[in-house]
Amino acid sequence: MKLKEFESDTIIEPFRIRSVEPVRFTSMEERERLLKEAGYNPFLLKADDVLIDLLTDSGTGAMSSKQWAGMIASDESYAGSSSFYKLESAVRDITGFKHLIPTHQGRAAENIFFTTIAREGDVIPSNTHFDTTRAHVEHAGAEARDLVIAEGRQSESRHPFKGNMDLEKLERTIQEAGADNIPVIMITVTNNSGGGQPVSMDNIRSVSEIARKHDIPFFIDACRFAENAWFIKTREEGFSGEKPVDIARKMFSYADGCTMSAKKDGMANIGGFLALNSDELASECRNLEILTEGFPTYGGMAGYDMEAVAQGLYEALDSDYLRYRIRSIAYLGDKLSGAGIPIVQPTGGHAVYLDAKKILPHIPPERYPAWSFNNALYLLGGVRGVEIGTVMFGRQPDGSEKPAAMELVRLAFPRRVYTQSHVDYLAEVIISAFRQREQLGGYKIVSGPAVLRHFSARLEPIDK
Ligand code: F0G
Repeated sequence: MKLKEFESDTIIEPFRIRSVEPVRFTSMEERERLLKEAGYNPFLLKADDVLIDLLTDSGTGAMSSKQWAGMIASDESYAGSSSFYKLESAVRDITGFKHLIPTHQGRAAENIFFTTIAREGDVIPSNTHFDTTRAHVEHAGAEARDLVIAEGRQSESRHPFKGNMDLEKLERTIQEAGADNIPVIMITVTNNSGGGQPVSMDNIRSVSEIARKHDIPFFIDACRFAENAWFIKTREEGFSGEKPVDIARKMFSYADGCTMSAKKDGMANIGGFLALNSDELASECRNLEILTEGFPTYGGMAGYDMEAVAQGLYEALDSDYLRYRIRSIAYLGDKLSGAGIPIVQPTGGHAVYLDAKKILPHIPPERYPAWSFNNALYLLGGVRGVEIGTVMFGRQPDGSEKPAAMELVRLAFPRRVYTQSHVDYLAEVIISAFRQREQLGGYKIVSGPAVLRHFSARLEPIDK
């Protein structure tokens, strides 16, 4: 008898679980009380009261046995730690950049970088700046300009690389602002603020050519570089046979440096870095690093954090892991689309984004539809996502409120934490909330700070 090779449709989690963390079940009655006590703000819930926590994929992942082994064998020397050299060698191998400046997380690398290069009146283009990147650019007195392609702002568009930079707009920005007033061109891979959408190799190459033509440095916000590499492998012509690590090397080869939050594709719970080629810029950045983070061979990280990141960067590039990672996001997306629930299409690398403007057309933006839907997910199923809408972005510097461009609920997946049955349960919760959508009402803010209000504001439901 000759058996035909079996091909499975199910993409299983490419790991076994040897250490488990119990989750706590609560009743709907308890959740109603807990949410009320938290001022109807999921950021103010205790994590222990959440069953499935999709607030962020940042620093929330599970580490591998090899990462833990590295942590135990780490070198905690103040200067010249072997754990630093291990991280430096991994970063050089993957990015090709000469200098490594370790930091405690991504935004610390941004702080050092933008404080060093940006001046009052400068313009810094990107596909879409992440909030902390934008805040650091603005803190330095410069303007953060988002130049993502038009499809990147349309939730139904199925463009395979919705994170791409609009090259014409980039050229126009350089003509208008003048190359001398553009200290760097950034590109975020994948484009988190634009739905976790990837950027193609072709776009990265073209942005790099434009930057070189005008003698402007080109940097990558590399937080989710491995997920981006997988999208290039599976969606862009000519890359299907290449290993993710080689695709990543090629992506970085077009740039002069990168900022990185190792809490994402570094597969660690904390850490980050700035990596770059210029000797002069590296030395300026190191001076600031010593002031704000620590000695250059640890920056903001313990030796054991550097070990975890050095190993994690390679694990994030493993094909079996990336196939599972991207497929588990698409799996939820397919289930939701199948049930007629509007989401940002196609699903990106780290999260599913629900389109609450379409789900709850009866709730106007000033009553926060995405906030309402996100809270419904907690009440019904103990699920915590995050509103990316008018509560987050609506408050203007003069105190007035302007509706955000989109009303989204982001469900971001911690790496290697949840299994397919968690995702099946999650889909049931979302579908149940969707079916009961007409019962949902809006919210109003009763107290909160002037800036970054979504983190600590207290709200109340408005009776329908
Ligand atoms: N750049 C991007 C694209 C990010 O998504 C983040 C963090 C940062 C920079 C800053 O890195 O948190 O290590 O300081 N994003 C998290 C999120 C917080 O939930 O999307 P950090």
